[in-house]
Amino acid sequence: KIEDGLAGVNVLITAGPTREAIDPVRFLSNHSSGKMGYAIAKAASQAGANVTLVSGPVSLQTPTDVNRVDVSSASDMHKAVMSHVSDCDIFIGCAAVADYRPVNVGEQKIKKDNNELTLTFTKNPDILADVAKLDHAPFTVGFAAETQNVRDYALKKLKAKRLNMIAANDVSNKDIGFDSDKNALSVFWNNGEEHLAIADKEQLAFSLIELITKKYKSN
Ligand code: PMT
Repeated sequence: KIEDGLAGVNVLITAGPTREAIDPVRFLSNHSSGKMGYAIAKAASQAGANVTLVSGPVSLQTPTDVNRVDVSSASDMHKAVMSHVSDCDIFIGCAAVADYRPVNVGEQKIKKDNNELTLTFTKNPDILADVAKLDHAPFTVGFAAETQNVRDYALKKLKAKRLNMIAANDVSNKDIGFDSDKNALSVFWNNGEEHLAIADKEQLAFSLIELITKKYKSN
């Protein structure tokens, strides 16, 4: 049990993948299991926070006392976050949101009449960036899933999206990151960083929530 460092604080978290429809039976998605985001929701709730978890499709149990909102696509997730963000003190974007979606969604199942199929994509809204640029933005924590130059790319995202903190993971390492029980995080903020060594996602989530609490309170 961690101390009640977040008692009375409203925390909004995104977790899991999004699904981008191609036609009524097919979608594009990614390997996010939701484990990292759900562990963060559990840790925040145990620290006394009122937690809302906006979740993509995953097969995980909702942590005790967490208010879960289920969504499918990035656009759905964007809408759900924007409708819950106004009274939120801390936002943590852990979801693996699809960057693009197909422009045209087939009304009927696409038939395999041709040897090639070309899909055109359009960019999805950036939920994290949109939260950070709100007039009364919460303390905003992003994630960065990278396969190379982890530090550089994470620092670029911290600045470009005007975040308070970013937690970066190296998803090229098969032992951690997507769909694994373990992870390791490098956390960056303006003029500081801390490295959380490889551990079970549950344990890591507690360390991350402790760090976020410290920075949120000194903000
Ligand atoms: O779910 P698990 O299997 O436990 O795996 C955990 C994880 C690897 C998914 C998680 O630790 C993680 O890294 N989550 C972020 C994945 C991601 O999409 O990273 P990104 O670097 O592409 O995006 C940067 C940030 O912008 C993220 O906070 C993301 O939630 C956010 N984003 C991205 C695109 C978009 N359209 N909207 C967003 O809010």
